[in-house]
Amino acid sequence: MIWLLILAGAAFLSILLYWIFITTEGVFLGRRMVIWLYDSTAHKYDSIKEFSASDDSFFIARPLIRATQHVNSPLILDVATGTGRVPRALLRKPDFDGFVVGLDASGRMLDQARIKLGNSDERSVECYSLVQQFAAPLPFPDNTFDSVSCLEALEFFPSDAEALVEMVRVLKPGCTLVTSRRRGRQARLYLGRYRSRTDFEALLRKSGLADVQISLWELDYDMVTASKNPGFV
Ligand SMILES: C[S@@+](CC[C@H](N)C(=O)[O-])C[C@H]1O[C@@H](n2cnc3c(N)ncnc32)[C@H](O)[C@@H]1O
Repeated sequence: MIWLLILAGAAFLSILLYWIFITTEGVFLGRRMVIWLYDSTAHKYDSIKEFSASDDSFFIARPLIRATQHVNSPLILDVATGTGRVPRALLRKPDFDGFVVGLDASGRMLDQARIKLGNSDERSVECYSLVQQFAAPLPFPDNTFDSVSCLEALEFFPSDAEALVEMVRVLKPGCTLVTSRRRGRQARLYLGRYRSRTDFEALLRKSGLADVQISLWELDYDMVTASKNPGFV
């Protein structure tokens, strides 16, 4: 009997640790734990994710370029840029003539971004900068950027609502935010943090965004675009 109890306890503990560190990536232990986990795995992040350059060109670079086509040399902020997926997708496009700021709290993820951006394209050196900071508060003045993106990251922040308010603050009125909503089987395991489509849309509207569009993107994410309400202060 005692062995059964020990086995059950060990199984419970293993599941709990798996849920804390793997499934929800340390989010219930605070933002420093999340960043420590990303620092520790940065060198293998891209090989785990297996991003496709053509998919990223179509689903990420194309909407960002379209959203900023009314501006000469648009300034774009990518929050939680990781290994530089968004800057890389933009800089691979010959029709992108802007500047992209990639922000992330993990220094090791940014090191990977620097290596990959450095290898990708000679013109890229003058077209991007990388900033090590948390997503909230953002170290930029109000109404600075022609577009802001934040992909596959909101669910790892201490507060998605607080981060969205910051992104909207630095976005120019009328301009576009491109972000993602966690969906799929694992999304509901973020206990107390899961947002249904309706809930997510309501949060975006409350943060000062309008024209919200949510579409199926990846197995675990919806792609979301919305524009900053011109009258929003
Ligand atoms: C799943 S990765 C997504 C990276 C990139 N956007 C992509 O699509 O590949 C999540 C990123 O969020 C960053 N991150 C997590 N919490 C953060 C916070 N509070 N502030 C800034 N970055 C954070 C991590 O360091 C990591 O690079």
